[in-house]
Amino acid sequence: MTGVFITFEGIEGVGKTTQVQKAYKLLSAKHPGNVITTREPGGTPTGETVRNVILQDGADMIDGITEMLLVFAARRQHIQDVIQPSLDAGRIILCDRFTDATFAYQGGGRGVDEQLIARLQDMVQGALRPDLTLLLDAAPDVGIARIRKRSAPDRFEAETMNFFRRVRHKYLELASRHPERIHVIDAAREADKIAAEIRSLLEAKGLC
Ligand code: TMP
Repeated sequence: MTGVFITFEGIEGVGKTTQVQKAYKLLSAKHPGNVITTREPGGTPTGETVRNVILQDGADMIDGITEMLLVFAARRQHIQDVIQPSLDAGRIILCDRFTDATFAYQGGGRGVDEQLIARLQDMVQGALRPDLTLLLDAAPDVGIARIRKRSAPDRFEAETMNFFRRVRHKYLELASRHPERIHVIDAAREADKIAAEIRSLLEAKGLC
């Protein structure tokens, strides 16, 4: 059996990481040892190094195309070492962000040409796309206010509200372009309500 590739998307502070953990617990009860969680950029030693490069508030400005190339380089390694082998082994993969984030952040946020992103997507992924994407959606003032209370902001968290508005807008555009894959979930609600909606979606897919 081939596995299932589920991604979680959304702007900062919408509670993605909490929901990945809740979904992991739920699915692991039904498929013990057959569910993994991972993230992008990250998921491999190379990917985590790239993550540090793009998140740290360094002295030089990283150009949008450079940023895109870095996340795709990390993604390639992630697919080779983690995602494809896990799919081949029939596992359920819960991935905190994937290529929709590149369309949203580098495309919507930084203004990188979408055709370029789409070309790299084909080159790096071949036909691989998520089976299901849960887009946790909330206005930037909800999410960003939450993270600004936490700790020193990273390079993205320090962006302007307008940047996050463009990112959110692009995510919603992607969701209307791919309604069969991307489910928009109202993330302005309490974590348990969001988890209940995700549970229903996973049940409808026969996964729990
Ligand atoms: P987070 O997942 O911990 O929120 O942080 C990852 C950051 O990386 C987030 O600000 C979005 C950014 N990112 C991109 O800009 N492009 C991408 O393709 C991915 C996967 C993440």
